[in-house]
Amino acid sequence: MGKFSQRHLLGIKEISVDDIEMVFETADNFKTVINRPIKKVPSLRDLTVANIFFENSTRTRISFELAQKRLSADVVNFSASSSSVSKGETLIDTVKNILAMKVDMVVMRHPAPGACVFLSKHINAQIINAGDGTHEHPTQALLDAFSIREKLGTVKGKKIAIVGDITHSRVALSNIYCLQKLGAEVMVCGPTTLIPKYISSLGVKVEHDLMKALNWCDAANMLRIQLERQDIKYFPSLREYSMLYGLDKQRLDSLNKEILIMHPGPINRGVEITSDVADSKHSIILDQVENGVAIRMAVMFLLAGQQ
Ligand code: CP
Repeated sequence: MGKFSQRHLLGIKEISVDDIEMVFETADNFKTVINRPIKKVPSLRDLTVANIFFENSTRTRISFELAQKRLSADVVNFSASSSSVSKGETLIDTVKNILAMKVDMVVMRHPAPGACVFLSKHINAQIINAGDGTHEHPTQALLDAFSIREKLGTVKGKKIAIVGDITHSRVALSNIYCLQKLGAEVMVCGPTTLIPKYISSLGVKVEHDLMKALNWCDAANMLRIQLERQDIKYFPSLREYSMLYGLDKQRLDSLNKEILIMHPGPINRGVEITSDVADSKHSIILDQVENGVAIRMAVMFLLAGQQ
């Protein structure tokens, strides 16, 4: 196996198809490991990782921490809300102070797009982007594509619809880059106000009719409406959004084929997806979460191999 081409994982845009396939092959092995009675390997025994989260997270934070523990790394967790950031400390000062305690790798989530790129120019440690504002969420895209590959055998040639709030979604952008690099066709679907004008320039199809998108695709990735990033109203009400773009059992059953239903989480049940769809046999939402641990183990293992 070759070496990962990047020193950091800042986004999917920068990495190669070979990098993605290397992550998948490594994750295949780690998925076997974490399903064994003894789930731990000593691969990163000498590594210390800091998980630095300036935004809330359930899946990504726990998944990274579990991945680090499965690889026997030492782990420290930092949450902005309980830190000295509230006393006015800057991002660079905060991270430099953490690194002074001999930390090798930083996993960072931050509300500002580009925060990880900015940090990578000021510190020596390796950085993994765990979501930077509306920009990228690379490990989410990798685990999403890995889950499609696992369920459909391949990503190449598959049709993937990404539905919902594309404008405010880092998951959408990273998924578009990742799926296209792997040879999938990508469609975005949602109200005009939630689809940025530049999106067609990325080579994706744009559809405003949910049923047309569902009839076209092999997998539908249903995104959450990111109200916390919306400073103005993009649609009249959540009820109206849900009537036009919510995926319910009736819509799913009216398709004359089976499709995979995906969601990066957290789910707003009854808005972008109803409970009977989220919990149905078509849903691979919890498989995505399970695969997240193996993918993050693979990313950290490959990056650490460059030190
Ligand atoms: N998918 C995802 O990033 O979820 P969290 O915000 O809970 O980490």
